[in-house]
Amino acid sequence: MHEPGSEAERAGVAAGQTARQPAGQTARQTAGAAAGKAALRAELLAAREGQSAAQRTAAGRLNRDHVLSLPQAEMAGTVAAYVSVGTEPDTRGLIYALWKRGTYVIVPVLRPDGDLDWASYEGPESLVPGPKGLLEPSEPVRGTDAVARAALVLVPALAVDTSGNRLGRGGGSFDRALARVGPRVPVIALLNDGELIDHVPAEPHDRPVPLVALPSRGIVSIQIPLREVRYH
Ligand SMILES: Nc1ncnc2c1ncn2[C@@H]1O[C@H](COP(=O)(O)OP(=O)(O)OP(=O)(O)O)[C@@H](O)[C@H]1O
Ligand SMILES: [Mg+2]
Repeated sequence: MHEPGSEAERAGVAAGQTARQPAGQTARQTAGAAAGKAALRAELLAAREGQSAAQRTAAGRLNRDHVLSLPQAEMAGTVAAYVSVGTEPDTRGLIYALWKRGTYVIVPVLRPDGDLDWASYEGPESLVPGPKGLLEPSEPVRGTDAVARAALVLVPALAVDTSGNRLGRGGGSFDRALARVGPRVPVIALLNDGELIDHVPAEPHDRPVPLVALPSRGIVSIQIPLREVRYH
């Protein structure tokens, strides 16, 4: 997997961007994007399968430290995060550290319709097994709009490209959640090294991300192309 170094500049600034929509995509292009995503997903998941547990833990620790030292994380009253499962870079140390230092952390509760509800993380003991092998908070849910009140949003991704297009696990759950997040709120996708790539196929519903965390590079800011600018 090629990681382009020059196009995504390293920065600590969370530049909010207007969501880019691949406007004017034909039905055939959308079908092609969906098929392209599936193939890329399989490739990226296989690469993650090849990692050891120690590598996942190490990647999680480095990303944890990158996020914890961001001013936006230090100042955030509420952080929307997620509990890593399977081969994802570990986030449990990160959400524990945020919670320990007094940040209000909310994590997803997957709804049967694939959308995300949110509930507060109250330490490792507050997590219980949920659907699809997920770990979810046992606290009361606060509604799908709770994510809109977060000052920092951390999302999973299998890869992000240099235009901010994000490839998730294929449920569309985080696309729905990100549609509720304001344009100036920093959103960080937590990746492994090598998962910031040249191209991720995008469909009209996909929400791009302005920032990624990479273990060996830190927080990298992405210029999301503005396809359409409206002035009111
Ligand atoms: N806003 C939405 N409303 C309804 N369905 C949606 C929405 N966004 C995405 N979906 C559904 O989710 C499916 C999968 O989307 P996509 O391939 O972009 O998932 P993903 O971005 O990889 O997953 P995730 O966001 O959960 O990490 C889409 O084909 C679509 O059916
Ligand atoms: Mg998507």
